Amino acid sequence: MAMIEVKQVTYSYKKDGAPAVKNVNFSIEKGEIFGFLGPSGAGKSTTQGILAGLLEIQQGEIFIDGALRSAHPGKEFFNRIGMGFEIPNVYKKLSGLDNLNFHAKLYDGETEDAMEVLEMVGLADDAKKRAGAYSKGMKQRLGFARSLMNKPDIWFLDEPTMGLDPGTANSIKGIIKRKQSEATTIFLTTHNMFVAEELCDRVAFIVDGSIVAVDTPKNLKLKYGKMRVVVEYEQKGVLFSKEFGLSGDEKAEFQRFIGEHEVKTVHSGEPSLEEIFIKLTGRGLE
Ligand SMILES: Nc1ncnc2c1ncn2[C@@H]1O[C@H](COP(=O)(O)OP(=O)(O)OP(=O)(O)O)[C@@H](O)[C@H]1O
Ligand SMILES: [Mg+2]
Repeated sequence: MAMIEVKQVTYSYKKDGAPAVKNVNFSIEKGEIFGFLGPSGAGKSTTQGILAGLLEIQQGEIFIDGALRSAHPGKEFFNRIGMGFEIPNVYKKLSGLDNLNFHAKLYDGETEDAMEVLEMVGLADDAKKRAGAYSKGMKQRLGFARSLMNKPDIWFLDEPTMGLDPGTANSIKGIIKRKQSEATTIFLTTHNMFVAEELCDRVAFIVDGSIVAVDTPKNLKLKYGKMRVVVEYEQKGVLFSKEFGLSGDEKAEFQRFIGEHEVKTVHSGEPSLEEIFIKLTGRGLE
């Protein structure tokens, strides 16, 4: 049984305005990392807000663990979810450590040790520093840390690595993978195809409030993309390159071409998730 099932969810910010999210359907298995990939304004954060009970369910249904989630979920629901926000909202006057300790008190169940969590996100040395004096990336890590204080079994992450340096982004990704291995179900939004590809078991492409495709990154590529080969060859002392597909005529052409030219390098590659996204939606990810 799916951990989260979303059926025909539609949401409009304005009564008679165009919906921000339209007839969205998907399900997420327990322990799965499910990604929402789409450009700015696609409806990612809105969907996350509805799932997490921040925005009301105007139309459609959400099932958690097979049970219909009420339009106004209670404490038992909030106790089990972790919520990472797009823009980290930390309490500036408190230290990082006190922010986490305060947040932990809001929950009924067992909570994490704040210092251990700060250690995990690389903020141990700044634990006693006022959060208002943290850099942007540090605030973001503190917000991320806060979202896991109540040991959520459903974890919502909105652009968890955006704007972080590669090293820090990697350690955040490592924490996400570790939580998954502890059976946490994770809903993650991003407009970064590398994040989607690296972390997500399955990805939904979303554009203008609608889901266009849902599958594993690998299947999306197999289904909608094509393998290609780039040949670098030399002619009269100058290096050129040429690209070939690997099906039908192009394959034969490629074989003939390498027989007839002074080939220097051959690289084969699969299409990127962004190329597939553009092919399916006519839009880029930015
Ligand atoms: N509070 C709001 N009031 C009115 N319209 C809103 C509000 N929040 C979002 N919208 C609109 O809803 C649509 C979806 O926005 P949403 O924030 O869900 O997009 P997103 O995919 O998360 O984008 P981004 O990648 O920029 O975070 C957009 O057209 C946006 O302008
Ligand atoms: Mg967003």
